[in-house]
Amino acid sequence: KANQQWGGRYADGPAAIMKEINASIGFDYRLWQQDIQGSLAHAAMLAKKGIISQEDEQAIRKGLEEIAEEIRTGLFKFDENLEDIHMNIEARLSEKIGEAGKRLHTARSRNDQVATDFRLWLREQIDHICQTLSSLMLALSERAAEYAATPMPGFTHLQTAQPITFGHHLLAYVEMLHRDYTRLQDGRGRLNECPLGSAALAGTSFPIDRAMTATLLGFDRPTANSLDAVSDRDFALEYLSSLSIMAMHLSRLAEEIVIWCSAPFSFIRLSDAFTTGSSIMPQKRNPDAAELARAKIGRIAGAFSTLLMVMKGLPLAYAKDMQEDKEPVFAATDAIMLTLAAMEGMILDMQPNTHKMYELASSGFSTATDLADWLVRVLKLPFRTAHHITGRLVSKAEQKGLRLDELSLTDMQAEEPQITEDVFSVLSLEASLASRISEGGTAPKNVTKAAQAWLSKLKAQ
Ligand code: ARG
Repeated sequence: KANQQWGGRYADGPAAIMKEINASIGFDYRLWQQDIQGSLAHAAMLAKKGIISQEDEQAIRKGLEEIAEEIRTGLFKFDENLEDIHMNIEARLSEKIGEAGKRLHTARSRNDQVATDFRLWLREQIDHICQTLSSLMLALSERAAEYAATPMPGFTHLQTAQPITFGHHLLAYVEMLHRDYTRLQDGRGRLNECPLGSAALAGTSFPIDRAMTATLLGFDRPTANSLDAVSDRDFALEYLSSLSIMAMHLSRLAEEIVIWCSAPFSFIRLSDAFTTGSSIMPQKRNPDAAELARAKIGRIAGAFSTLLMVMKGLPLAYAKDMQEDKEPVFAATDAIMLTLAAMEGMILDMQPNTHKMYELASSGFSTATDLADWLVRVLKLPFRTAHHITGRLVSKAEQKGLRLDELSLTDMQAEEPQITEDVFSVLSLEASLASRISEGGTAPKNVTKAAQAWLSKLKAQ
């Protein structure tokens, strides 16, 4: 039979396959709270403007509150014949309160309705994600404060480069995640305009008050152009792109956890709570959570790409293509929330093996740059010359199977006669670390200060 919401001119119902491709209730039920919230604001405005009566508005409010309760308690029957969440709720409302329910859709279209619901939903998710993100940043900052002076090898090309501290490494991620946080907040500011009242595409002839619904729903203002309001999803794309960048950061951290847990590195140990065993190899402790956190970017960046392709080339205004905006956004949201929480769990769980980190930080000629810097600072040699001399000393130490600070002064002087005993003062790991006091550098005292600054900032939030 024809659709009860729009089937006036229809004699026949849809083909089964039409129904299947058309219905979105299977996923957009997740917008139910926002849909009811939007309808309550719309009805209040209609009554205030005398477009519907006060009695109707009261009946609508009561009906919608009951529906919310039915959905919350699992009693509500979602019906695929009613396509989407908007018509499921509206149909139930009319069923409950009759005529008044049928007046709710005055001066409104599903086009402005869904755009409003979706913005409300995303706004709430941004707030959840930012909270969870802050909590991860707090965990990282706490661990960073704990290990502000703990040496570890810093890598470039995954080759030992210079000593750094573990705290400094962890705080690098706090900086990245903080930028992710601000990116989401920037997007939140732009999405916080209310499409309601744009109606199908052209606005409405009813004397509505768009500022009122915008305020009731916590938006900063109504959107300025009715066509734009119902036909763009750039706010969702911006959200997904911010999530993709965040997932990329989390993926790098996850990868480092995987590397750090590996037997040859053994920089950290994850407890039984965050590893799994192998069904065949009894010795294994696999960092599955980290690997999955590394992989989630696939879904998240995939979601961004999906929606970008859906929107590409769509003529104004609304087209049903846009119903495909929700699943990628839901999927990406679920994936990032899970990843953030698992990551926080691992960061709090990990036990660093500071001996192993120290050992690797002092091997691999990690203080070679300090030697070259000493030649420049004390002997006033040009850096390129110093680099060359140091290279020869590294090669000599390598041949003898020694660390740089184990070479004798005679060995050193064979390459550069002006070298004195003083050179050994810069070759130790501790001296190297302590000397990196330039702004943003890895010296333990810098790192302690930075960790404290993050801790007070994050705790104040
Ligand atoms: N379920 C639809 C969506 O998600 C609601 C808007 C439908 N509007 C329309 N004119 N068919 O986009």
